[in-house]
Amino acid sequence: MQMQIRVPATSANLGPGFDSLGIAVTLYLTITVKGRTKEWVVEHDMGADIPHDESNMIVKTALKILPTLPAHCFKVESDIPLARGLGSSSSAIVAGIEMANQLGKMNLTNEEKIQLATELEGHPDNVAPAILGDFVVSTFVKQKNTSIKGHFPELQFMAYIPHTELLTTESREVLPQRLPFKEAVSAGSIGNALVAALLTGRTKQAGCLMEEDLYHEKYRLKLVPHLTKIRSIGHKHNSMATYLSGAGPTVMTIIPGQEAAAFSQEIREAGLTGKLVALDVDRQGTFVTHNR
Ligand code: HSE
Repeated sequence: MQMQIRVPATSANLGPGFDSLGIAVTLYLTITVKGRTKEWVVEHDMGADIPHDESNMIVKTALKILPTLPAHCFKVESDIPLARGLGSSSSAIVAGIEMANQLGKMNLTNEEKIQLATELEGHPDNVAPAILGDFVVSTFVKQKNTSIKGHFPELQFMAYIPHTELLTTESREVLPQRLPFKEAVSAGSIGNALVAALLTGRTKQAGCLMEEDLYHEKYRLKLVPHLTKIRSIGHKHNSMATYLSGAGPTVMTIIPGQEAAAFSQEIREAGLTGKLVALDVDRQGTFVTHNR
C-alpha cells in the first residue's frame, strides 16, 4: 500500500501581517511513501544539492518528531520553487511531520502539528496555512502558537518569481532591530484592519491596507527592487494589491483574471524576465491519500 502526502505552497505576510498572516496557494509538494527499507531513500530530481538519504530535510523533520521511525523509501515531487518566498522549506517540514504522524500512527491534531512545525520553522505564517489551507491568522508568543483559519475572498493571483534565490535569513538581516513606538502601533493597527477587511469580504479596503505595510517591505526593497515596478504596473491594470510574498523575492499581485494577460505583457516590456504564474488559494491544506 502506498501513501501520498500533498502539501501546498504558501504566501506569507500579505503586506502588514508580518510573521502572522499567510495563505495556501495552488503549487504543491507531494511525497509518495513506497515502503520499508534498510536505510532511508529519498527519490527526487530536484537538483544535486538536495540529499537522497537521512540528511534530507523531510527525513530529519520526521525523525525529530518520532526518533524511532523506521527507514522508508519515498519519492518527492514538487513544483514549489526553492528559496523564492513561497514556503518551500515549510512545505518540507510539514511533509516530514505528516509522514511521522501517519507512519507512526501518532494521531496528532492540527494544533499539535502547527505547534511542532512552528517550533522548527521559527514563525507560523507559512506552516499554518500549509497544514490548514486557505487563509490563516497566527501568533507565536512565548513559544506557544495560536492559529485561526478564515475564508480568503475568491481572488486570483499572479506570482512574479525571479530567477534568483533569496534566503529568508538574508532577507531578515536587513530588518531593523527596533521600531519607534508610534510606528509599531500604526503597523499593528494596519494589520488588524486588514484581517477584519479580508474576513468580511471588503476586498477594496483590504487591497489598500495590504500595500501599507510598515514592518518589512521598505527595508527589503534593496533586495527586491522589482516590487515597486510591479506594484505600479498592477495599479494600471486594476490590481487589488501587490505585496512581497514572505521574505521574497517572489512578488504577488492580486488581479482580476481578465487583466492578467495585459499585466504580464507590461511586466515583460518593463524588462522583468522572471516567471509569471497564475495561482489560486488552496482551500484544503495538507492532504493524505492511501492507495492500494
Ligand atoms: N514572515 C517571514 C518573513 C516569512 O517575512 O521573514 C518568510 O519565512
